[in-house]
Amino acid sequence: MNLAYKRKIRRAFDRSAARYEKSAAFQAEIAREVALRARGFEAVAGAVADLGCGAGALGRELAINGAPRLLVALDISGAMARRARQNGIPYAIQGDAESLPLRDGSLDMVVSSLALQWAVDLERAAREAARVLRRGGVLTGAMLGRATFWEMRVALREAMDGPASLLARGAFHPMPAYEEVEGALGAAGFHEVDAATSRRERRYDSAPAFLRELKELGAQTSPGLGALGLGRRKLMERFFDRYHQRFPFQGGVRATYEVIFFSAARRR
Ligand SMILES: C[S@@+](CC[C@H](N)C(=O)[O-])C[C@H]1O[C@@H](n2cnc3c(N)ncnc32)[C@H](O)[C@@H]1O
Repeated sequence: MNLAYKRKIRRAFDRSAARYEKSAAFQAEIAREVALRARGFEAVAGAVADLGCGAGALGRELAINGAPRLLVALDISGAMARRARQNGIPYAIQGDAESLPLRDGSLDMVVSSLALQWAVDLERAAREAARVLRRGGVLTGAMLGRATFWEMRVALREAMDGPASLLARGAFHPMPAYEEVEGALGAAGFHEVDAATSRRERRYDSAPAFLRELKELGAQTSPGLGALGLGRRKLMERFFDRYHQRFPFQGGVRATYEVIFFSAARRR
């Protein structure tokens, strides 16, 4: 994956920034859980950076029980950072988690909620987090793991006949496996790594409604189904059929989110 792919991700979030919060109930729920975990560390009272802040949900949660002394929120999407400023996070700026515009050792804590799964190179993002933390500083957050939306992969594979199913691989943004998260944090020099995975099932009225929500959130970017060309519409119909047949749930359909919660400390 390359810079062009990263630009595609940024643009999708730029486009969704204005209406992001309307569809982000699940993201708000996870931000609350991440804030709760962050409050378990003394470092939360110091200088904190929120990577991939979106509209600022995590920063607002952290501020509820006494704000960090300083909160810098960064998002690769300038429109999202603007939205966070409008939502009361004054130091929300455009910035890439894989190349942080922050000084070495300048922070007590780095937090992030449901953003790092978008990193093109997770180990690089982990190294950047380690670089900007002081010795003993804490990284904590959550990101989506590989099992996320596994139902979509099954339905798409079944909707595609024969060799076309190979294309299904490029149809989804690759999310990291649990071991990759642990591995990236270890390789970046963190210790006391604690990672736990949690599967959450959500109900949607229908498979198209599910995909619509992903689009509203800006989370629809994938390496591409472009090669399917004219066959795409037919394929989508078959995909929706398969999804409804295989994954019915409470009068609608279900989708699984694998949330990987992680914490780690920079070596002293
Ligand atoms: C699903 S949203 C989560 C936003 C927010 N943390 C929340 O919980 O509502 C993911 C965010 O990560 C941002 N993002 C994606 N790749 C990024 C990167 N490399 N650096 C910084 N932000 C990134 C996106 O622009 C988007 O705003």
